[in-house]
Amino acid sequence: MQITCPVPPCAGTTGASSLESVRPKQTHEHGTRLKRSLPVVLACCLVACGGGGSGSTSNPTNATGQPDLTTPDNGNPPTGNATLLPALPVPSLTPGPSADDEPIPESGLRHSVTGFLPVRDNAPAITKQSAEEITLEEFLAGPLPPIIEIPPGIDPATNAAPFFEGLTDQELFAGDVLTLPFIPRDPEGDLPGLFPEELPEGGEFVDNFDGTKSLVWQPLQGDVGITEFTIVALDPLDSFYRTRQTIRIRVLMPDDPASIPNRPPRIEEFIPHTVRVNDPVAIELRGIDLNDTTPTLSIANLPPGGTFTRHPQRDDVFILRYIPTQTGVQTFDVVSIDADDPALTTTEQITIEVLSAASFLTQGPRLRDLAVARGLFLGFASRQDFYHRPDGEIYTQFAADEFNLVTPENSMKMEVLNPLPGRFDFADADNLMRFAERYGLAVHGHPLVWYTQLPEWINTTAVADRAIHLREYISRIVSRYADDVRSWDVVNEPVNNDGSLRDSVWLEGMGESYIDIAFRQTRELDPDAVLLLNEFDIEVDGPKADGFFSLVERLLERDVPLDAIGFQMHLFTPFDQFDEVRQRFQQAADLGLDIYITELDVSFPEGTTAGNRDFERQAAVYREITTLCLEQPRCRSIQTWGFTDQYSWREPLEPLLFDARYQDKPAYRAVQEQLTPP
Ligand code: XIL
Repeated sequence: MQITCPVPPCAGTTGASSLESVRPKQTHEHGTRLKRSLPVVLACCLVACGGGGSGSTSNPTNATGQPDLTTPDNGNPPTGNATLLPALPVPSLTPGPSADDEPIPESGLRHSVTGFLPVRDNAPAITKQSAEEITLEEFLAGPLPPIIEIPPGIDPATNAAPFFEGLTDQELFAGDVLTLPFIPRDPEGDLPGLFPEELPEGGEFVDNFDGTKSLVWQPLQGDVGITEFTIVALDPLDSFYRTRQTIRIRVLMPDDPASIPNRPPRIEEFIPHTVRVNDPVAIELRGIDLNDTTPTLSIANLPPGGTFTRHPQRDDVFILRYIPTQTGVQTFDVVSIDADDPALTTTEQITIEVLSAASFLTQGPRLRDLAVARGLFLGFASRQDFYHRPDGEIYTQFAADEFNLVTPENSMKMEVLNPLPGRFDFADADNLMRFAERYGLAVHGHPLVWYTQLPEWINTTAVADRAIHLREYISRIVSRYADDVRSWDVVNEPVNNDGSLRDSVWLEGMGESYIDIAFRQTRELDPDAVLLLNEFDIEVDGPKADGFFSLVERLLERDVPLDAIGFQMHLFTPFDQFDEVRQRFQQAADLGLDIYITELDVSFPEGTTAGNRDFERQAAVYREITTLCLEQPRCRSIQTWGFTDQYSWREPLEPLLFDARYQDKPAYRAVQEQLTPP
């Protein structure tokens, strides 16, 4: 049954034209965001709809079974982009945020920032769910068929795929040692190479020096259950011709658990950090025990005035807090004490480098000031919990000094914000808003709708309900942050490399119209926001860019409220297709759209050793991209995907403007020079 709404929805019925330029958001008093947060906006819509919903979840559909966006179902003629959407069901399909989802102030024990007070989620954190539990039934059904990848130019009739001889699923007790040999074979007689996709914790992959290798693994209490293990064989003639074989390993608890050996505990890997003298440092250390117990941690050489306490919400985490008053490298001895046997301990060292305040001073004008003078946004993607990192204070200062725009690297992904139906974890996103407000940065929201980093629950929803799930999610998030977020990546990465539409729960539910629905729903809740379609590898010629731009043209023909194209631009140092970038920017401008560079980074190619990294070449790529943006009047923003190599999704490839010790790189100086007025 359809839901009819006697009056038009109350929010955003006048949707701005896609070609109209959008004003920057007004700054606002601290706290006003909450006044316009979800309950108010939704309540308003719900009252307007008279509460007459039946709970029905279906959209009107057209002949192809996809939601029909051309006919409003309220009987009124369309009066603007937003009103093309039917009213959302009442009551909602999944519960919206409640008072329990409102973050609360965090105690001063954890964070390392002084400029703003972080909040935390009220409810206990949800540990990430494993992708899918393998059932006993599936295990008993026998091994999975191999998956063969055939690259172009290979004819399996003349060159048969490699395979593994005699490989089967395994079953053993925790505490037993599994020695599982992998015998790769090739029908043509040569010896295939092989590698495992991922090793289980504590497992080893050993060479038998006869062309075979073995997995040697002693599962413990924490491994009880069914796990998958994937091994890959490479054809001797073409290493891209591959066979992936997944086996299942079932680990059972023995009758006498005391027979399982007790392994020493340890701490989760801690990467060295650089901090500034006299800044507060908070170091979170997590204890791990494969026997599935929780070790207690202690510090053998606690610094003067320092504290080492258990995390207020998590049993397995301890926090070292202190203020370094001297420069130099500090080493702390961390002792992990076994829960079952206190005599069983492991001592590991962690290091912190303390630099003087002067070591963090960067020559020349700040990028932020240069960008402001040019009417440009210069942004960065912020690490999810930077205020909980040991170097949170210096991170905050660099972020605030150098940038006038910030986007969340992960904090606003659906898996973070809405991990279960009706459960909302807003603290990470709220903290970003607090930071941005405190230091006067605009916020670029990322991403509302994406095919990945989704919560598990959305995959199991009925296909026919997906449009409502999408719209409810967007309504909740966009209305909550409407006063804070200036621009949104409404849909992220919709296109495959061959130019076709990328498969996702959203495409499955709505076909291409999921994109229309997402944009219209966002516009309805936030008429002032700049709405982007964001994608990677579309700055260069090829089927992907062609497919992407045809999609954009179709959206504009359907009057979808799209304002700008987000060019992600995750580049590598050999990149030199700058003419193509110029043309692609112009193509967007010719369509009446703004250009946002959304995720710029320039990595060294995988395998480039430390001594062979040409930082001047990296700087040249940054320089060219900056120039291309400055030359294109519709280019509004340059945003890098992080700013220090300490925190990058491509961390070993050093792709950013500052190194891991917050020292400016030639890339920084290149951007600085380009932004400086002649
Ligand atoms: C990446 C983050 O940087 C990682 O920390 C995370 O594990 C995976 O996602 N395109 C996007 C971003 O739109 O959201 C991705 O961010 C990088 C590629």
